[in-house]
Amino acid sequence: MNCNLRPDNESMKLLNECAKEITARKFNQLGYPFDQNTQFHEFYKWLADTKLCDITLINVGNPYKTDWDMLNTDYFECESIDFIASRFGFDDNHWGVIANGGTDGNMHGIYFGRKALAAKSSRPPVLYVSAEAHYSLQKIGDVQNVEVRPIRAHEMGQMDVEDFAEKLDPSRPALVAIAIGGTFKGAIDDQKAINEVLLEKKPVASYRHLDVALFGGYLPFLDDPAAREIVDVSKMNFDSIAVSGHKFLGMNEPAGIFICHKDILKLVEGAPIPYLKYSIPTISCSRSGFDALKLYWHIKSLGDDGFKAQAGHVLEMGKLLEKSLLERGIKAHRNPYSNTVFFTRPQEKIVKKYAMACNDDPVFGKLAHVVAMQYFTPELVKTIADDIASNS
Ligand SMILES: Cc1ncc(COP(=O)(O)O)c(C=O)c1O
Repeated sequence: MNCNLRPDNESMKLLNECAKEITARKFNQLGYPFDQNTQFHEFYKWLADTKLCDITLINVGNPYKTDWDMLNTDYFECESIDFIASRFGFDDNHWGVIANGGTDGNMHGIYFGRKALAAKSSRPPVLYVSAEAHYSLQKIGDVQNVEVRPIRAHEMGQMDVEDFAEKLDPSRPALVAIAIGGTFKGAIDDQKAINEVLLEKKPVASYRHLDVALFGGYLPFLDDPAAREIVDVSKMNFDSIAVSGHKFLGMNEPAGIFICHKDILKLVEGAPIPYLKYSIPTISCSRSGFDALKLYWHIKSLGDDGFKAQAGHVLEMGKLLEKSLLERGIKAHRNPYSNTVFFTRPQEKIVKKYAMACNDDPVFGKLAHVVAMQYFTPELVKTIADDIASNS
């Protein structure tokens, strides 16, 4: 069937206006942690040259399956997951999937946790999550019908582990969602202290899921071994981890990576779905086959050295922004290993100009934050700091 290759002129005009406006403002999204420097034009050119762009590509269920007739990019999905898993200290005994985003990665973390705990105890689990963790975790508790117990956070955003110890019910399985880089303040929950509470209180079973949406992209590539340890499963012994693809890892549309130990996968797999030949551990059936190609392309283009350089850069830029704001008399704050700087909210026109994210905080009052990403330069930091200082 023939169809037009382009929309009509009127629609093209609207699309072109949209493209122009978005590209002009690409560096004005400071409140959200996107890599606006990702160079995917070669990737899209390759898709056009190879005609892959005219094909529907869907990956289904377990990307590590063999004997699958449908067109797929499973190999590249597995290669990408294996690369990231090894940077989180997993050995070959890991399993993972490219999820549809950070929330989808967390959805799988809570789902896998629920299943793993159900295999150990018939009592319903409790999901413990700090008040500063991403809102999706509480919502996922609702969706999966798991009782959520919010844990207080300290004023800098870290989970209050004493409150966790008080609220922990040892008679029920504990599903602990640990924030490594809280969304607004960029706080890292103290896994060692959380692990100590679990050891001491001995709940009937426990499962720890790490939400490392943004920080999980760069912590493994920092020079500082203490930073790398935070997301190293061989040191911290967590059960699963979810990282966003479209934050530090540079994907330009929603994607996430969920990784767990392979023995947990066995507890999740149910009976095979006849028309799909295998049992399906993932919640959604179809995932983008293009995401796998794009992430593989990005990993192979940048390599460890590229990620290391970017990781050092985002932290340097975060520090510089904090310092520049403090020098200009703005109350600014930044957590250890964080590229997120939060500060007293400037005038609304500046918040809007740079699309800053805002929060009303019981301790700090009206706040805004900026996340220093790959595209930050000392010149951009100076411009932002000047703009904030003269409009506060
Ligand atoms: C800590 C954290 N977890 C999860 C998410 C959700 O990620 P997504 O927007 O990809 O669903 C975010 C998003 O900002 C986040 O900051």
